[in-house]
Amino acid sequence: MSSTADSQHPCRRLFVALWPDEALRKEIDRLRHHHHLQGGRPVPVENVHITLSFLGPVTEQAAACIEQRLGRISAAPFVLKLDRIGYWSRPRVVWLGADEVPAALRQLLEQLNQGLRDCGFQPDPRPFVPHMTLMRKVNRAEALRMVEALSWEVKEFVLVQSHTLPQGAQYTVVGRWPLASAVPGGNSN
Ligand code: 2AM
Repeated sequence: MSSTADSQHPCRRLFVALWPDEALRKEIDRLRHHHHLQGGRPVPVENVHITLSFLGPVTEQAAACIEQRLGRISAAPFVLKLDRIGYWSRPRVVWLGADEVPAALRQLLEQLNQGLRDCGFQPDPRPFVPHMTLMRKVNRAEALRMVEALSWEVKEFVLVQSHTLPQGAQYTVVGRWPLASAVPGGNSN
């Protein structure tokens, strides 16, 4: 995604994501062990997430605009069925993903992308494929078959700052926004 980042000013590397809770992380870790995935670099379980939009280096001014727009998003909570495990040979990653994108997630993405455009960003034009990277630098993967789907009740989305450390990426959640069903008969003013 291209940004309004200005090399004259300090930038933070940010992305918007769905962030599993501790219980789901344990299930993901169990699933990963079950599949005996080998020959790559496992993503630390505390880092596993679904990226909604990768922003890259962002100035403080642009970050403030984005946070304001994220706060205006109104989308319902949804259940994401993590029912696919797969391998992409170009980025060399094994991922866990969802076959179906729930309507509420599409709504969230549309509002997110509009908010990003309002702040001067160009959202990724590629179709959104919900996935969480489990392993990187995997040269070859045998046919992967999902044994048991995981059901994820998604109740919020987050803004994450990525720090590149010698030992790898470290992610810090810098903002959380709840997903809330519209109040029936509520006043939209
Ligand atoms: P991936 O895990 O599917 O590779 C934080 O870096 C997250 O943003 C990663 O989970 C990564 O998704 C995603 N991302 C998308 N585009 C990226 C890019 N150009 N550089 C780094 N990460 C990117």
